[in-house]
Amino acid sequence: MNRLKEKEESIQDTLNRCNYIGSKIIYYDSIGSTMEEARRLIEGTKEAIPEGTVVIAEEQTAGRGRYGRYWHSPPDGIYLSILFYREIEPQKQGLLSLMAGVVSCKVIMRYIKKTGKNVNIKWPNDILVEDKKICGTLIEKLGNYYSVGIGINSNTEEFPQNFIIEPTSIYLETGRKILNDFFIVKFLTIFDSYYSSLVERDYKRIIKDWKSLTSTKPGKKVKLRTPKEENDVIIRGIDENGFLVVEDTEGNLETIVSGEI
Ligand code: BTN
Repeated sequence: MNRLKEKEESIQDTLNRCNYIGSKIIYYDSIGSTMEEARRLIEGTKEAIPEGTVVIAEEQTAGRGRYGRYWHSPPDGIYLSILFYREIEPQKQGLLSLMAGVVSCKVIMRYIKKTGKNVNIKWPNDILVEDKKICGTLIEKLGNYYSVGIGINSNTEEFPQNFIIEPTSIYLETGRKILNDFFIVKFLTIFDSYYSSLVERDYKRIIKDWKSLTSTKPGKKVKLRTPKEENDVIIRGIDENGFLVVEDTEGNLETIVSGEI
């Protein structure tokens, strides 16, 4: 058996107790983008793709970030897309995004803990270590499926210039390389537990954990960029659907579904 098939099988075996995630693992050493591969699977395969299928790559040659930006994806990083097709009420879809942030933050914290550095979530799901970005999430709707793409800078030694938020990696923060497959198994196991909460409509768990891990706290003044405009606002919190509630300069409250702060 070749190295990649062995990895697929060993990750799949370790995830056999999960409720939803890991029924199928597709592992690449190098690929354009796991998001594109997920799309190709859904649009180009006749048989149904099992829920919880995960496409994993060690390197991406055309990694994509939010708003069509570039995602730096050199070898020995963690790049994956998880496919879900269960019905999620439209107004609860924001929770899928918060959930991705909670799970990424929790697992990354285990690695950074010893350094004493601060790890937190910036709305909706960027993970920052001392204000540097270590992980990002991109969610796309593909027909009846959601593709949840997560990029974790695990072993990256250096980054090119010109990022909107300065990037970092687990290696740069701790001085140690990690075993990516070990991280992936931990990550997917915890993700499965939160996804089970979402399916069982236990939304409170997701919101409570997100609130405890975020730096996007009520009262904070920020610049909010939405696809339409950029404004100074004050954070007022998140609502029961995971959308951001802000107050504008005239004191009006607004609910933000998608944007960046
Ligand atoms: C962001 O802009 O913060 C989101 C970054 C998402 C990157 C991941 S890496 C795995 C998946 N494949 C991609 O091409 N992008 C996402």
